[in-house]
Amino acid sequence: MYTSRIVGMGKYVPENVVTNDDLSNIMETNDAWIQERTGIKERRHIKKGDGNSTAVMGVKAAKIALERAEISKDEVDLIVFATLSPDYYFPGCGVQVQEMLDIHTCPALDVRNQCSGFIYGLSVADQFIKTGMYKNVLVIGSENHSGGLDFTTRGRSVSVIFGDGAGAAVLTRSEKEGHGILSTHLHSEGKHAMELSLKGPSTEYWVPEIIADNPQEDIPYYPYMNGQFVFKNAVVRFAEVIMEGLKTNKLEVADIDMLVPHQANLRISQFIQKKFQLADDQVYNNIQRYGNTTAASIPIALCEAWEEGKVKEGDTVVLAAFGSGFTWGSAIIRW
Ligand code: UT7
Repeated sequence: MYTSRIVGMGKYVPENVVTNDDLSNIMETNDAWIQERTGIKERRHIKKGDGNSTAVMGVKAAKIALERAEISKDEVDLIVFATLSPDYYFPGCGVQVQEMLDIHTCPALDVRNQCSGFIYGLSVADQFIKTGMYKNVLVIGSENHSGGLDFTTRGRSVSVIFGDGAGAAVLTRSEKEGHGILSTHLHSEGKHAMELSLKGPSTEYWVPEIIADNPQEDIPYYPYMNGQFVFKNAVVRFAEVIMEGLKTNKLEVADIDMLVPHQANLRISQFIQKKFQLADDQVYNNIQRYGNTTAASIPIALCEAWEEGKVKEGDTVVLAAFGSGFTWGSAIIRW
């Protein structure tokens, strides 16, 4: 029986730092509101002309992860790319990564599960490794949010939250039992699909129609979020799916060495920390510096936690996410 292990992590964030005060200069918002409601102090945005895109940032993170894993690009058997902000409608970012990494040919799969995208991707990778089909899988989460947000006051409840960046993990086959990814748990509830959504451009809302049919104040090509409803569902589902993972592995909350929650809102992470009575050093948060980077948030946070020595060999690491779809999931890892 095979198991899969994360043997390399990498991250990349654009150099351009955008503070809350910077946003206050272009819309009606302020540092106090943003910090109090979300915990965010600053985020990174791609700067026009800096060469970055969702796929490019994914490649930058992937190169670091592969180097640290000591696995060459030609040993990659599968690329899984999670994003809600792909460079193009089609083709997906996965094939762009395959080309940019100069991998001769390999399967490349794009995952469309928004904030839960990295955990979905990790689960796909884990299943392929466990069945013996693939040995090395590259999982990437990357987002270019700043290219598609409404930076006028109309869009402030969404646009102050999101940031750009990428994280990547290299998973490899292991034969050591009780090690690596112990289990993954995935869920969705499509009846709430529109509560956090971007409707167009799409086949339902095509560009000429948008321009012709919509008055300027009702443009469906900016993200919509029913913030309080999403928040209320998030805290319930985070707790549920963490417990599901722990129970499956006969673990207790006290066994968690590090919880890396999707960085949606610092208040959500703090709510979960309090509910489970976890100490500050048992939960990793970096939303203060990067905002919510959706599919990239968990791999960026996990990479930093590992770089800082906060995730060590043998540790029980729990990943958990919730977001648009609604989708949510967890992964229980023995590092
Ligand atoms: O990662 C995917 C999952 N996403 C989430 O989990 C996000 C969940 N939701 C949230 O994080 C929070 O709901 C938000 C941070 C989005 C919003 O916080 P809130 O405490 O729910 O605020 P609200 O939407 O109820 O807005 C409160 C007030 C409103 O003004 P009035 O109507 O009370 O006068 C808003 O117009 O704050 C106003 N407001 C702002 N003020 C300054 C909304 N956005 C801003 C802003 N700056 N950027």
